[in-house]
Amino acid sequence: MTTITTQVAIIGGGPSGLLLSQLLNRAGVATVILERSSRERVLSRIRAGILEGGTVQLLHEAGVGARMDAEGIPHDGCNLADDETMVHIDFQALTGKQVMVYGQTEVTQDLYAAQDQQGTSILHEVTDVVISDLDQARSHVDFTHQGLRKRLECLYVAGCDGFHGVSRKTIPDEKRREFERVYPFGWLGILSETPPVSDELIYSNSRRGFALASMRNENLVRYYVQVPLSDKVEDWSDQRFWDEFARRIPSDAAERLVTGPSIEKSIAPLRSFVSEPLRWGNLFLVGDSAHIVPPTGAKGLNLAASDVHYLHGALVEAVMGKGTAGIDDYPARALARVWKAMRFSWQMTTMLHRFDGEDAFAEQMRKATLDHLAHSETARRDLAENYVGLPF
Ligand code: APR
Ligand code: PHB
Repeated sequence: MTTITTQVAIIGGGPSGLLLSQLLNRAGVATVILERSSRERVLSRIRAGILEGGTVQLLHEAGVGARMDAEGIPHDGCNLADDETMVHIDFQALTGKQVMVYGQTEVTQDLYAAQDQQGTSILHEVTDVVISDLDQARSHVDFTHQGLRKRLECLYVAGCDGFHGVSRKTIPDEKRREFERVYPFGWLGILSETPPVSDELIYSNSRRGFALASMRNENLVRYYVQVPLSDKVEDWSDQRFWDEFARRIPSDAAERLVTGPSIEKSIAPLRSFVSEPLRWGNLFLVGDSAHIVPPTGAKGLNLAASDVHYLHGALVEAVMGKGTAGIDDYPARALARVWKAMRFSWQMTTMLHRFDGEDAFAEQMRKATLDHLAHSETARRDLAENYVGLPF
């Protein structure tokens, strides 16, 4: 079996793996990325598009901020609404911070381009990945690529392979503690080359269910409606989507709605999930391999960046022989921030969605939450601080 040697083996070529690899390479640490899908398939995924300031900073540190600066749209606030009320959350006034609207697909594209420039070895369509010897000085990742079984020998392994990857499951079941909340609905999302109904995002909790008006740029919108888990994409024609979306957003926004053909349409389930620990010997879990948030708080990509923020410097220190304090502290430091984002995403989801079979009390709680936000700057500041991203 062919053996390749590197310093850090990275499983997964999504945002987590690419950003970690880019930062490690720039610090002089060698990496190899093993990715299950083709590059085209990775880049075809449509995900959220809100970057916290910390994520923007990290992308600049990684040397991939130029196109984001040129094409991204800074947002100073967002709106929360129900059938009667719309509350503006002014991030700038409340926190002095803003978020950047720039799609995850673009971030991933920029990272691939930068990694190609680095000459980093990214192997696509890799299968049957098996991680071993995590308690030895050198660990191993065996995999099949282009019909050949190969072995990657390394000092450390970064499990950046998402919720369905192998890394988390490499940690023995009895050593893992998992926390989960599966929501009884999904989000049907579309992309359409039409102008947004509003300059800023609108999260709308209408009596017909949740809707979100987001965007990628001034002529590309990303809209969502809450749908039952039993729904299939083929149940939703464009016209049905437009009709329902218009009924769930505030009337003044609906009057501005410009419809058009969907260029992407998909349904995603919503889940809150955390798996502890983030470390097993020389293996470190990063991003979706360790945690999943419902998209209501726009935290998925930002939490991946958060883990990378804590791990990349720690791995450089360890690889360069400057001590293991950083990697020893990684699980606790990363999880502390993960849990706070998990709470915020769960709170936004329960506040903005109708749950089948809920009683009138639950509806009153949602109304009172929005009413409190409308009348309390302190409540708005709390939401704003979480939305723009808590400090690292
Ligand atoms: N071997 C190699 N690669 C794998 C394996 C495997 N066994 N299993 C999964 N992968 C790859 C997937 O094909 C994917 O490209 O790992 C990558 C994981 O990427 P993501 O799922 O995007 O996770 P992450 O990089 O942590 O980024 C988190 O992505 O899915 C969104 O909402 C999520 O915004 C968040 C962000
Ligand atoms: C998106 O633009 O896709 C998006 C924005 C904010 C969210 C979720 C998704 O909370």
